[in-house]
Amino acid sequence: MTKKLELYKCDICGNLVEVILSGEGELVCCGQPMQLMSAKHNDDVMNEKHVPVFIRNELGKDEVRVGSMPHPMESGHYIMFIETISPDYNRAELQYLHPGEEAKMLIGEKLGKTLAREFCNLHGLWEGERD
Ligand SMILES: [Fe+2]
Repeated sequence: MTKKLELYKCDICGNLVEVILSGEGELVCCGQPMQLMSAKHNDDVMNEKHVPVFIRNELGKDEVRVGSMPHPMESGHYIMFIETISPDYNRAELQYLHPGEEAKMLIGEKLGKTLAREFCNLHGLWEGERD
């Protein structure tokens, strides 16, 4: 049984899928069950570069940035996407990112108090919540 907005990864081919609507079945890829991803909230060593930070930017817009210290955005190590989710899980917005870009995303006005998660190609899934 899956749950809405869960993320599952295939350990063999790297497929990463998000559940839009839940179902009873098990998700399978490359002939084996996909792994449910759990997000890290903190880590003594890598916290400052991965936990999402909520700020109001220079233009007065609410924004998520990855880490209180900027995360690398190089071809071998970068943030692949940021996703913001409303507390009731009824609205989600996803921003793909690429090497050379800044690891940030504007927060949609309809999201309210927001959960943000981001995926680092080396260090996995992280999340944080706006106060
Ligand atoms: Fe990282």
